[in-house]
Amino acid sequence: MAYYLIEGTRPLNGEVRIDGMKNSAVAIMMACVLVEDVCVLENVPRIMDVTVAIETLRQMGVKIKWLEKDVLEIDARSAKSAAVADELVRKMRASYYLLGAELGRFGQSKIAYPGGCNFGSRPIDQHLKGLRALGATCTTEGNYISLRADEICGADITFDVISVGATVNLLLAAAKAKGQTVLHNVAKEPHVGDVAKFLTSCGVKIDGIGSHTLHIEGCQNLHGCRYRILPDMIEAGTFLIATAASGGSVVLRDVAPEHLACICEPLEKMGADIEIGDNCVKIESIPDKIISFSIKTGPYPLFPTDLQPQFGALLACANGQGSIQECVWQHRFQYCTELKKMGADINCVGDTAYIHGGLLSAATVKAVDLRAGAAMVIAALATQGMTRIDDIYHIERGYTYFVEKLQSLGANINRIA
Ligand code: EPU
Repeated sequence: MAYYLIEGTRPLNGEVRIDGMKNSAVAIMMACVLVEDVCVLENVPRIMDVTVAIETLRQMGVKIKWLEKDVLEIDARSAKSAAVADELVRKMRASYYLLGAELGRFGQSKIAYPGGCNFGSRPIDQHLKGLRALGATCTTEGNYISLRADEICGADITFDVISVGATVNLLLAAAKAKGQTVLHNVAKEPHVGDVAKFLTSCGVKIDGIGSHTLHIEGCQNLHGCRYRILPDMIEAGTFLIATAASGGSVVLRDVAPEHLACICEPLEKMGADIEIGDNCVKIESIPDKIISFSIKTGPYPLFPTDLQPQFGALLACANGQGSIQECVWQHRFQYCTELKKMGADINCVGDTAYIHGGLLSAATVKAVDLRAGAAMVIAALATQGMTRIDDIYHIERGYTYFVEKLQSLGANINRIA
């Protein structure tokens, strides 16, 4: 199995381009099922989850080809509602967008329970509550979820919890529903807005994008479009945290700085210098001067749970004690066990990890999930000696050219196949 070898304590210097957002790309690719026409998506990241989404759509008869390095053409004219192989569905969380997309296009869908990172229980009750309100009959049998509707009609739906996945699934189904759907208490993450903007580019009328309430006017004939996926705020945040931990001076190109306030503000309070430009952000850091800080995760615009493990790695090598309260996922501190193998001083109590920063030592550790893997890379970059990271397939699900980008900034990281 492939692994990374990282020799740390080299500062990162230079420029790095941030790719398109994973969680937008996979959702918008599934949204293309609704469009009986050709869509061209730009800024699509070359990550494993996108490869899985391509295979999934091909199993449904969708024609897909790369036009350029990051430009994908998706022709769903001959798509059919086909049972996608369970092993594909279990490879990524975003497979559950087939529920909304297939219900909208074909009036039915049947998929296995989706996979993705393991953070404890990942319910989909809010997805099903919303889809039922649009008129679908939902049955869950064994490991499968089935939906069927003779007609889907707009409805007024209030989510009980803020959920990215439920909001996107309802946007997809409502895009083809008869009449208007109003969604209350929706997720405001930039990738939710990205899916909504893609749908508007295909002819769906959606009001309230970026707010907690969305009004969607169903449209029977969505047309093709050319659409550019937003830059990945989590990839950008990962590089910001990596630079804060390793030291150096890095400019991130092709970012949306307005989405990065949630991570730039804590990093500045910890002692990093950050300058915001038009589509770029520059960070400068001297690791000895980075002092600890405490954060709490939450739905956008609060601190993103998908940067929590990376931030934990930074706290493990900062000066003083900080804490992280994880308010989104039940079990997202598994990476702490790996950090402790490097000597990190961490005490997890309930939903909070108390982390006392100090010098870490090189060790053999593993990526327990995607962002946990990025956290181990950050810890290794800040640590003297040679750290080995196993199970890197998790990291490669969600980061584009991660090793090459870090090498271009001067990191000593190698992928050993
Ligand atoms: N929830 C429910 N019921 C539901 C759905 C969610 O109770 O029906 C709860 C969850 O248990 C959780 C909270 O609501 O406590 C938020 O879950 P959400 O539905 O927003 O998460 P998700 O859609 O499954 C997406 C991202 C995750 C990211 C979360 C939170 C994708 C494919 N995944 O998951 O990204 O952590 O939103 O921002 O978009 C990652 O990229 O590493 C990743 C895990």
